[in-house]
Amino acid sequence: MKTRRPIIAGNWKMHRTLGEAESLVQGLLIELPDLADVDVVLCPPFTALAKVADLVAKSPVRVGAQDMHWEKEGAFTGEISATMLRDVYCRYVILGHSERRQYFGETNASVNRKAKAALAASLRPIVCVGETLDQREKEDFKGMIRTQVRESLAEISGDDAEEVIVAYEPVWAIGTGRNATPAQAQEIHALVRATLAEQMGAKTAARIRIQYGGSVKPANAAEILSQTDIDGALVGGASLEARGFAAIVKAAI
Ligand code: PGA
Repeated sequence: MKTRRPIIAGNWKMHRTLGEAESLVQGLLIELPDLADVDVVLCPPFTALAKVADLVAKSPVRVGAQDMHWEKEGAFTGEISATMLRDVYCRYVILGHSERRQYFGETNASVNRKAKAALAASLRPIVCVGETLDQREKEDFKGMIRTQVRESLAEISGDDAEEVIVAYEPVWAIGTGRNATPAQAQEIHALVRATLAEQMGAKTAARIRIQYGGSVKPANAAEILSQTDIDGALVGGASLEARGFAAIVKAAI
């Protein structure tokens, strides 16, 4: 029996206009089970955050952003601050997603600045780590994942650390339909937790939730989520369809 409360987050990426977001959320609110034993977070694009927050306001569903800047305000064209996210009722923010690392130059150091700024603004960061196929085949990818965890969460401890969610997403499993086997995922989740324990102490590490991400779908969710150190899922493609996402949430309960 796991003591950590499972958390399922839907990462909509660059999908859904306002009208489309509204139909998706309305569908979800019908399909979702009782959420007494699971946290559910929707992460739409910035433009739909306020709308989605409004639509789920009377439900236990929470809203998260897909990125943010570490400064509170300033001359940073195109950026959004934690204060602005709080202003539209965000409670979570995804940081260091592999697509941001790969296409937009995100580094462990920038993820760390953002994570600290998010926590200071009472936003829970979902900090993503994971290896590419090349790294898995050619490098010490476990060492690389340990470094991602250590550097992305540097100088975060105690109560703040317990607010953090780590998402392990093997990059080769994202959007490819090719998921890690439950045993492969569990092995890296245990490694992430051991790294957190070295950094923050065993007690804190035991409380931090670690999500798996990468081609999670209704058909594989239950088996993945049953692993000892897997406390939820970060879902991309399958979060864009109400019934499928609700089925993943049900698998977590
Ligand atoms: P996927 O995406 O579920 O479409 O593989 C997961 C993610 O990128 O967070």
